[in-house]
Amino acid sequence: MNATTMHTDTRGPIEGLIGVSDVMQDVYELTRLAARSSASVLLLGETGTGKELIASALHQLSDRASGPFVRVNCGALTESLLDSELFGHVKGSFTDAIRDRTGRFEAAHGGTIFLDEINSTSSTLQVKLLRVLQEREFERVGDTRTIQVDVRVVAASNCDLSKEVTEGNFREDLFWRLNVLPVYLPPLRRRGRDIELLVRHFLRVYSLANDRQIDVIHPDALSALLAYSWPGNVRELQNYIERAIVLCQGDQLVPELLPDAVIGDSKAAQTAVFRPTDDQSLIREFVYSRLSKAEEKAQDLHKQIVEPVEKELLQQILQSCNQTQTKAATRLGINRNTLYKKMVEYGLAKTNGKSSSESNS
Ligand SMILES: Nc1ncnc2c1ncn2[C@@H]1O[C@H](COP(=O)(O)OP(=O)(O)OP(=O)(O)O)[C@@H](O)[C@H]1O
Ligand SMILES: [Mg+2]
Repeated sequence: MNATTMHTDTRGPIEGLIGVSDVMQDVYELTRLAARSSASVLLLGETGTGKELIASALHQLSDRASGPFVRVNCGALTESLLDSELFGHVKGSFTDAIRDRTGRFEAAHGGTIFLDEINSTSSTLQVKLLRVLQEREFERVGDTRTIQVDVRVVAASNCDLSKEVTEGNFREDLFWRLNVLPVYLPPLRRRGRDIELLVRHFLRVYSLANDRQIDVIHPDALSALLAYSWPGNVRELQNYIERAIVLCQGDQLVPELLPDAVIGDSKAAQTAVFRPTDDQSLIREFVYSRLSKAEEKAQDLHKQIVEPVEKELLQQILQSCNQTQTKAATRLGINRNTLYKKMVEYGLAKTNGKSSSESNS
């Protein structure tokens, strides 16, 4: 395969996703490359931007595709329910535990687990998740036996997770563990003509579903749709088109079929509800720059993507801890020996010819 076909293969649209804008091509490319490794992926982006679709594509495109894809909405359950949902429990471990129960991590063995709304997890669960990510092992609630699993973790957050870290609501070590490969889904308002492609796509889908044929878009409707700020992104667009099809009398999508918000407010300020912080953009750009290199050689993705990111993160954390290894190890949630091994591996262990493990503790 030559470099050009590879490039096209990696950037072309992914099945089930509509959009050809440059920002979405970046997403497709990153998704395809990430699918080839087992590293954790963190999906970021406003509500309705397609994080769940990408999570499922990551699984389908990976060599785990024949294994299970298990989705858990961490925001929908209380702490203790989520605990036993994720890790399972043994009979009698709490009042309602009338029989042993397999958790979702076990159910996802050999496949992918998608932890949606990861930002909603309590600090106790964050500690447990960190351990699964690091050691791939856990215990069922109320049990002492350790269970080992082979699971690829994909997590999603629709709020700025690094801000949650700064505010003390989310563990920094878990954040870095999840954030090995961040994929940022751009808001719809930044996708240019993809808006029109999506409108046409949903016109087809809902015309078919409602036994109608509405395939013409009035120019005023189109310009309003293109100018609107789409705070609810693709989900909001999908919803408006479905409603318009139901209300439509003729064969044309006219402005009157669209909500006042779109028509009246289409020139409203394009407010960003959520933007990645500089840190996240920085890491993302770093990953992208590595990816183009990885693409050239298409070999040993772990070496080319995961290791450089990990090295960069180690350097950042070590720097923020004044090179003190015990502090850095605690922040990373790994023990000092593991940290030191990694530092040696990445050539970070020596400073001025002197081992930094000797100079720091
Ligand atoms: N590029 C796309 N092409 C076609 N449909 C899309 C695209 N992106 C999103 N959708 C559709 O929009 C809806 C919302 O997408 P999805 O559930 O993946 O968003 P999300 O980012 O997970 O949102 P939330 O943060 O609210 O959970 C779904 O019905 C999905 O099928
Ligand atoms: Mg979602």
